[in-house]
Amino acid sequence: MDELVSLCKRRGFIFPSSDIYGGLASCYDYGPLGVELKRNVKNAWWKAVVQMRDDMVGLDCSILMHPMIWKASGHVDKFADLVVECRKCNTRTRVDHLQGAEGVETTRHSHGEAQAGADLSDKVCPGCGSTGQFTEPMAFRLMFETQMGANVDDSMKVYLRPETAQGIFANFGNVLDSTRLKIPFGIAQIGKSFRNEVTTKAFIFRTREFEQMEIEFFCRPGTDDEWWSRWKEQRMQWYLDLGIRKENLRFREHAPDELAHYAKACVDIEYLFPFGSGDWQELEGIANRTDYDLRQHQRGIRSVTRWFENRRDTEKTPLVEEAAEWHKGPLSYFDDQAREKFIPYVIEPSAGVDRGALAFLVDSYAEEEVRGEMRNVLRLHPSLAPIKVGIFPLVKKQGMPEKGRAIYDDLKRFWSCFYDEKGAVGRRYRRQDEAGTPFCVTVDGQTLEDDTVTVRDRDSMEQVRVGGDKLRAFLLEKLDM
Ligand code: GLY
Repeated sequence: MDELVSLCKRRGFIFPSSDIYGGLASCYDYGPLGVELKRNVKNAWWKAVVQMRDDMVGLDCSILMHPMIWKASGHVDKFADLVVECRKCNTRTRVDHLQGAEGVETTRHSHGEAQAGADLSDKVCPGCGSTGQFTEPMAFRLMFETQMGANVDDSMKVYLRPETAQGIFANFGNVLDSTRLKIPFGIAQIGKSFRNEVTTKAFIFRTREFEQMEIEFFCRPGTDDEWWSRWKEQRMQWYLDLGIRKENLRFREHAPDELAHYAKACVDIEYLFPFGSGDWQELEGIANRTDYDLRQHQRGIRSVTRWFENRRDTEKTPLVEEAAEWHKGPLSYFDDQAREKFIPYVIEPSAGVDRGALAFLVDSYAEEEVRGEMRNVLRLHPSLAPIKVGIFPLVKKQGMPEKGRAIYDDLKRFWSCFYDEKGAVGRRYRRQDEAGTPFCVTVDGQTLEDDTVTVRDRDSMEQVRVGGDKLRAFLLEKLDM
C-alpha cells in the first residue's frame, strides 16, 4: 500500500489536497493520470448500467436540495453515528469502530445504526491507548450543514447531500412524466456526496467528500427479492469483468441490526484491501430500500401541502399557491395494464467511485523483476487505463520523430495517447508500465523502410510488427472495450 501511495503521488494519480499548506485531513485531489482513471471508472459503470441496457436512464441532480428532502428521508433524525469521547485525550471514536485489546471491532454498523448499550469497559482509545475511559455514547450528525442565501429573512439552512439517491427519488415523477418508461426500470446517477465522518480511513478509502455511482431500480412489490439477487450478481460481475481478481472479492450480507434505517436487506461487495495485514472492506452495497423513500416523500409532500393550506389567506401569495399546487404531485405508479396503482419497491446498488478506483489500482499493481531490473506495473484493464497508447520514436533523428508524431496525431482522435521521445526507449516503456498504458508503439529504422511499427504489450512485454495502415484496426481489436 505504501508503495502504491508513493506511486500515486510521483506519477500524478492522487495528491493530498491543499498540499502547499500541509494538506487537509482526508481530502485528496486527482492528478493528470488519476482524473483519467476516475473518469474511466465512471464511464465503464455508465456504459454497463445505462448505455447497454434499455431499462435504465441517467440523471444529474444538484448537490443542494430542499431541506425537507432530508427530513422526509430520515437523514435529519437518523443519519448519525454513535460516538464516545475519551476522558483522557478527548478523541472521539465511533462506538462500532472501537477495538478491544485483542484488536477486534465491536460490531459493524451502517451509519446511524449502532446500538447504544454496548459494553465499553475493555475497549481501547485509538488516540491514547487507555482502556474503558469513555463518556456515554452520543449521536454525532453526519450531514454537513451550510447556509443558503444572503438575506437574514429568507436564508435557510441546507445540507450537502450525504447520498445522491434522494435526487433520484425526488425526480421519480419527473422521469416517469418525461419518458415512456414502465416499471421495472432504473435511474442512475454519478456525483459527489459529503459526510462528516468521525473516523476516516486509509488514503482515498473513506473520505468526507466522495463520489458515488448509484442506481435506484424501481420494481413491483413482490419482485424485489428477485431483482435484488439479479443486481447482486450483475454488480459483482462488473468488477470481475474489469479485471479484479476473484479471490479478492466477496459478498457480505448485513446482519439485521446492521441495516441502514431504510433497508430491508443489504449485501456488500467487499474487496480485500492491503490495509494492515489485509482488510475486507465495502466497495458497493446492494440494498433493498423497499418503498421506504417514495412513501416518506409522499408523507413529506402531504405535510408541506397541509402547511401551505393552513397559512392565513393574507400570506397566500401567488408563489405560495403555486408551490402548494406543485407539492400535490404523486410518487406512486399506475400500471395501465393491470389498472392498478402502487408505490414501487427500490433496489439500490450504490458504489463508491474513489474506493473502486483504489481497488482497481491496488489489484493491478505489481513489482516484478525483468532481466535483473525491477519494474512497477499497473495491469489495469484497457478501458480503465488512463493512457491507452504510448508512441515513441526509437531515436530523435532520421525522420522518426515526424513519423511518430503523425501516428500520434492519428491515434489521439480515438484514444488518449502519449507521445514521448525523451531518454532511452527502455525507460520510456517502464514509465508507461507504471502508468498502466496497455500498448506502446515504436517507430524505428525499419518503419522508414517498410512502414511497419512495433507494438509492445504491457503485460507480456512482447513486441509484434504491425503495418502502419493496419495499426488502428489492430489497436481497435485489442482495445475493444
Ligand atoms: N445511498 C446509499 C448510501 O449512500 O450509502
